[in-house]
Amino acid sequence: MRVAQKSVPIVQIDFQDLPPQDKILLVFARAALEEAYNPYSGFSVGAAVLTRTKGIITGANVENAAYGEAICAERSALVRANAQGVGHMCVAIAVVARNRNEPTTEITAPCGACRQVIKEFAERSGMGEEFRVILATTDFSNIVVATLGDLLPLSFGPKDLT
Ligand code: THU
Repeated sequence: MRVAQKSVPIVQIDFQDLPPQDKILLVFARAALEEAYNPYSGFSVGAAVLTRTKGIITGANVENAAYGEAICAERSALVRANAQGVGHMCVAIAVVARNRNEPTTEITAPCGACRQVIKEFAERSGMGEEFRVILATTDFSNIVVATLGDLLPLSFGPKDLT
């Protein structure tokens, strides 16, 4: 049994059954993974953020010789959205990865740090726990639609500091 939450349950869905906006977001996320700078892991991740005005901002992971300084695709896209003046309008994010030249066989979900950063943007836009997170394998054969509330329950956020 699932623990009762405000957000909707995690849903596994076929590409053809997604709303057009989610399809586009996934296509943008997959295109963005081609921009990954990943000489150390070879793991490419693309993220696409949807804004309230239907804009899409993408990002990819950027690694560093000091391994710990790698920046994930999700944070890369969100920070880029902020730089473009729409950091307060982010309502959803899609994430697609590829492992070197091999398509992923499982969806790639945001790391813990990215979930926390998504939380901040979700609070800024007013989406809160309903901020949508769309995750897919490289070939879109496996797609999961979740909410931030699903991925980061009992979270810490800006409201805790008021
Ligand atoms: N990575 C992301 O970009 N997003 C995730 O959600 C998980 C991990 C990146 C970081 C690093 O460049 C590579 O994937 C391997 O961890």
